[in-house]
Amino acid sequence: MAESAVAFLLEKLGAFLSSQLDLVVELDINICSLQNDLALLQEFLKDVDARQRDSERVKVWISQIRNVAFRAEDAIDRYVYEVEFQKRRGGSSKKTANHARRLKIRQELGTEIQGINKMLQKITASRLDFGIEFRQSDEGEASHSSKILHKVMPIVEETDVVGFEQDVKILSEKLTIENPRRTAVSIVGMGGLGKTTLARKVYNSDDVKKHFDCQAWVYVSQKWEHRELLQSILEKLVNPSKQEIAKMNLEGIENKSKEYLSTRRYLLVIDDIWDKLAWDTVRGAFPEGKDGSRIIVTTRREEVALYVDPQGFLHKPQCLDERKSWDLFCLRAFGSKGGCPEGLRKIGKQMVSRCAGLPLAITVLGGLLSVKQKTKVAWGKVLKRITYELHEGEDGQNIQRILRLSYDVLPDYLRSCFLYFRLFPEDSEIDAEELIQLWVAEGFIQERGQETMEEVAEDYLEELVDRSLIQVVKRNSTGGVNKRRIHNLLFYLSISQGEEEKFLCMNVVGNHLPANNVGSTSAPRRVAIHSKESFSKNSNSSWLGSVRSMFWYSDYSFQQSINDLKLLRVLNIKGSYIRRLPKEIGLLVHLRFLGLEGTYIETLPSSIGMLRNLQTLRLGARLDTRDNNGRQLDGKVP
Ligand SMILES: Nc1ncnc2c1ncn2[C@@H]1O[C@H](COP(=O)(O)OP(=O)(O)O)[C@@H](O)[C@H]1O
Ligand SMILES: [Mg+2]
Repeated sequence: MAESAVAFLLEKLGAFLSSQLDLVVELDINICSLQNDLALLQEFLKDVDARQRDSERVKVWISQIRNVAFRAEDAIDRYVYEVEFQKRRGGSSKKTANHARRLKIRQELGTEIQGINKMLQKITASRLDFGIEFRQSDEGEASHSSKILHKVMPIVEETDVVGFEQDVKILSEKLTIENPRRTAVSIVGMGGLGKTTLARKVYNSDDVKKHFDCQAWVYVSQKWEHRELLQSILEKLVNPSKQEIAKMNLEGIENKSKEYLSTRRYLLVIDDIWDKLAWDTVRGAFPEGKDGSRIIVTTRREEVALYVDPQGFLHKPQCLDERKSWDLFCLRAFGSKGGCPEGLRKIGKQMVSRCAGLPLAITVLGGLLSVKQKTKVAWGKVLKRITYELHEGEDGQNIQRILRLSYDVLPDYLRSCFLYFRLFPEDSEIDAEELIQLWVAEGFIQERGQETMEEVAEDYLEELVDRSLIQVVKRNSTGGVNKRRIHNLLFYLSISQGEEEKFLCMNVVGNHLPANNVGSTSAPRRVAIHSKESFSKNSNSSWLGSVRSMFWYSDYSFQQSINDLKLLRVLNIKGSYIRRLPKEIGLLVHLRFLGLEGTYIETLPSSIGMLRNLQTLRLGARLDTRDNNGRQLDGKVP
């Protein structure tokens, strides 16, 4: 499991201390030792072998680091809050009292940091007890993982393909059209969309087969091996004996393929390619040719497709529509189209809709139901736990594993950005401008030369689109991403990862957090309330004191006391029922983003002026059509 949030926090802590040298001196903090430990832990986190990330022991170890990092962040943010609070209350008559208070706050921070320092040292030392090993060499891992990943490769049976008629037609045309230049035709989209299925259908179609002198299919995946790739190509082309191939070196294999292909019009499929290097590794085996050879690329990354051929043709298949989704489901559940008994149709359709047109999910769901009794009771049971079945159940894990591959290879700086989507309501279209402002406020954006934070953030957004992790719903006139949406299965991926990493917590109804979340160090840092239920205040709300971001997308009025939310950085109460902002809002010294669009707030309290860290204030009141009790009036909004 990736621990982006932890690495990120450790970096922040280091940066804070370096920027507060006077404090460090005053508190006699051994900054060298602290920074050393931080750097070491960061390296360890990066290096923890991918194979170990799912092990319980490693998870425990990482969660210890997370707790310390959270504790440190809390200590620093509270310190900044208190200092600021003092300044605001400060009058000359209270000078001595203030000074004493100031000293006390500093001492508290000092003690806390000393404690943290010790804990970090302990954790660093304890990694051996936890049996944590680090990657020795990339090669070893590549061969190990390539074997695992080969097993993950979905088995595609062409006979059962639903739809894709139009896609096959478009692609076949591009493959067979008169154009001597060797061209790539790429199929780009998220995992499980049917890229491989589509490529296979085209590859095996009669028109295409007739057109080419020879064809080869190479499956790449995330972890590939140089020799394995080249060898598999040659085997498919000329089928040499095992002894013959064993004698050849890499160059020999490459030359032999090249020589064979130089006189032929070939069709090559590079299936599931993730990185440019993989193409660089095999490209030597494929002569440019002038007789209309073609390469079909399937990938989740548009950038890689364009790397293979910048002038190539990109095709992005769409998710299945409702009718095709149903056909595919019936095919998998009953073995033939339309075989669903009338009485099961409604339940079946409800379940299929949860797959949001993703063939992989529909296939898995159909398979799951094919072995269940075909009764309303049996199907009703599955419907009740459909979320579990699609995400955590034995079959659901297969879906998640395939989707998660995209998350696992995300660079650190994109991970938090991806997890962030979960804070928005499911299936919503998200405004890119707002999202970017939020990322900036959260501190996710790294500085890059002369570029503004917003420019860098736009690149991050494009990169997530490029990796097929999000879909663009609308682009603006200059081609930038305007509105985006996330497939709901990927959305669940961001939930499970997010909760695991204590990145966020959803729908805390009645202020109750799951038991294991209570306590300031392990409480989630971001909370989103999407619930239609009221979020009532009760005594157990101490955990709110360490919440940094609150999304309040509930129909119910926002009543949270600002005093409980001292460390907030982001407050987004867009669209919720609120008429007036409390004046205490001015106390939120860390607040960077305040989203008030679509609320009923018409005037702002003057204390807003005290929010000196505020970067974004989103406004836009709507007309109040409720009565004093918050009930909707009959009149329509003009
Ligand atoms: N149009 C389709 N008709 C029937 N099954 C499909 C279709 N598209 C995808 N599938 C099934 O969905 C699963 C994932 O498809 P696959 O082609 O491997 O996706 P991708 O290559 O985009 O990750 C496979 O089990 C495949 O059989
Ligand atoms: Mg595939």
